Amino acid sequence: MITREVFDEVLEYLSQYFEVTSNQSDVPMDQGTLAAKLSDKQGALITLSDRVDEALLSRCPNLKAVCNIAVGYNNIDLEACTKAKVMATNTPGVLDDTTGDFTWTLILATARRLTEAETYLRNGQWDGWKLKQFLGLDVHHATLGIFGLGRIGQVVARRAIGFEMKVIYHDVRRAAPDIEQACRANFVSKEELLEQADIVTIHVPYSPATHHLIGKRELEQMKPSAILINPSRGGIVDDSALIEALRSGTIAGAGLDVFENEPKLNPGFLELKNVVLAPHIASSSKATRFKMAMLAAQNLVAALTGKTPPNLLNPF
Ligand code: DGY
Repeated sequence: MITREVFDEVLEYLSQYFEVTSNQSDVPMDQGTLAAKLSDKQGALITLSDRVDEALLSRCPNLKAVCNIAVGYNNIDLEACTKAKVMATNTPGVLDDTTGDFTWTLILATARRLTEAETYLRNGQWDGWKLKQFLGLDVHHATLGIFGLGRIGQVVARRAIGFEMKVIYHDVRRAAPDIEQACRANFVSKEELLEQADIVTIHVPYSPATHHLIGKRELEQMKPSAILINPSRGGIVDDSALIEALRSGTIAGAGLDVFENEPKLNPGFLELKNVVLAPHIASSSKATRFKMAMLAAQNLVAALTGKTPPNLLNPF
């Protein structure tokens, strides 16, 4: 079962190995429909909007593998999969550069207030050049604070070299010296990062440990001139606290690709000018989304033909 629309080549590839049921019309499935569709299937190519939990697995006795077209896998209950002897896989590596690039899209657009300025222009409000129009934050030579110096965090850090920035990072574990050197990044505490960074960007996976990593207290620790960037997962930032901080001037701006309870959006964001909003597209270049879907399909083929999938998350 392929739960959402994929590239034709991916469909053709999987059809060489399996009898495939696809959803090329891309109609999203609720939990009941998904369970019914998967109830007689052995493998599933899924996306981050499909929740694989104990309840679903209990209705799918033949299922052997669920292959996420995403690197993040907080939509999959790994423990439940292992208990049910269902292999779970993700797509690490192939999207790092593209997601890193988009992080910079958000950083630059937010710092230089691009969305706000374009809306002003489109609305016919522009009546000429003004010295103090849309004054933004300089990115060059600023301090970039990165939460999570994993694969994507490292890409973002390396891109910062071109902007001659000072890079600081915080993570659950300090990175190896060669990584710190390649990224020209200095390890600091969470508090130091929040207090010193002009731009705070988040690159950690979502888990109970990172739920609301950035909330009211953390936002108050940031500089009033600073901006927050989140291309990782909704739920890592407390959206209500962020809206309040943007409204009251606790911080200057935010660039967001992910939201709590997406695709529903806290309507407070739409009332704010100092936020750049994107619909979870950080990995969405043509080449990268193709690679992600193909890698997920290769994981599925391996899982169902007696091999170890290259990106197995729960060896058992
Ligand atoms: C991922 O791979 O986790 C991305 O969020 C999907 O776009």
